[in-house]
Amino acid sequence: MKVLVIGSGGRDHAIAWKFAQSDRVKQVYVAHGNAGIAEIATCVDAQTVEAMADFAEKEKIDLTFVGPEKPLSSGIVDLFESRGLAIVGPSRRASRLESSKCDTKILLRELGIPVPEFAVFSDPEQARAYVRQVGYPVVVKADGLAAGKGALVCDGVEDAQEAIRAIMEERIFGDAGERVDIEQRLYGRELSFFCFTDGYTLVPMVAAQDYKRAQDNDTGKNTGGMGSYSPHPWLDESLVHKIMSQVAEPLIAGVREKYGFLYRGILYLGLMLTGEGENIVPHVLEINIRLGDPEAQVILPRLKTDLVDVCEAILNGRLQDLQPEWDPRYRLCLIAVSGRTKGKKGWYKGYPERYKIGLPITGLDRISPECQVFHSGTGWDEAGRLVTTGGRVLCLVSTGDTLAQAREIAYREMEKVSFEGLYCRSDIGRE
Ligand code: GLY
Repeated sequence: MKVLVIGSGGRDHAIAWKFAQSDRVKQVYVAHGNAGIAEIATCVDAQTVEAMADFAEKEKIDLTFVGPEKPLSSGIVDLFESRGLAIVGPSRRASRLESSKCDTKILLRELGIPVPEFAVFSDPEQARAYVRQVGYPVVVKADGLAAGKGALVCDGVEDAQEAIRAIMEERIFGDAGERVDIEQRLYGRELSFFCFTDGYTLVPMVAAQDYKRAQDNDTGKNTGGMGSYSPHPWLDESLVHKIMSQVAEPLIAGVREKYGFLYRGILYLGLMLTGEGENIVPHVLEINIRLGDPEAQVILPRLKTDLVDVCEAILNGRLQDLQPEWDPRYRLCLIAVSGRTKGKKGWYKGYPERYKIGLPITGLDRISPECQVFHSGTGWDEAGRLVTTGGRVLCLVSTGDTLAQAREIAYREMEKVSFEGLYCRSDIGRE
């Protein structure tokens, strides 16, 4: 079988790697990939969804799997299906659950699914008046897609006013900031929860802890994710049952029955757990329509079941027959990002702010086989050297019988990697 993976980051490298493990897969193609992905798959230079569909048709691709949200929101699934090509992911309509934070919060509230107190605004003056009036800390979220950075966590009214100005007036996230969702800031424990779904049946995956803030102790700006680990210490059977019955199942049934669309593929719930024990409430902070990055890097290595079998069950509406098997051992993902460096005209602050690219990377040949390396932002320079091409550069994924062991291995191996300005958080997996 020939498989095409859409994407070019660390998550997409993990997806391509997982397909490459399958006895049923003869060849993995990735559009458009990166230097690390090129070691295990054939990279394809297709930049538009039309070019990807043309490639899939010409190469007679049997199965396409989409990593990032952008092509899904652009309707890649609708296009492939209209051309008779098998593809896993939600339709353009279903993808609005990620591409409009405002509409989704309203939909969730209508379906009776727990969400923080929130209000939606398209007028910055009204938004400012609201944050002055509510009297509790808020999170200001750009409505549209913003590469995982569109939620500004605010400490007080002034901070919130500044976030509204930056998103709605300065338009730091472009048109994504035409509307904002202003939510009460909840305090508790964040959990990334994932399911496979064929639109009727949901199968939960193992969960992961993501680290979104740039600096240690969850300080600094929001990023796409600085590290992750799985299993999640809080997720026991009763919590899985609660999340499935209070959030995932009402959502998938609700969009089908009340809103008239089928949601098929991966469902990613960004949750904030508040309360204790029996009284835990899983509030939905965000819905994503894909695997998380860097959650996929710790979840897929734990999946023992063939990913092709999972995809076929989704596409054939036979998920009720699937019982995926998981490796109980820990995986921990540590991300090396492009940090602070000196440029010709001064300092680059580093990811998620401005950073330099094109910096040579060394040391990967010394990484122990105990650690998997997934590439996020790498390429080659004119001399053929491996160089940085993005904010997030490399993911080191370790395995351990305990979280502490996995943590020790990942940090030990990261010492061997080097590029100018390399930065990683020092507290990933420190519980
Ligand atoms: N790790 C956050 C995300 O994938 O959106």
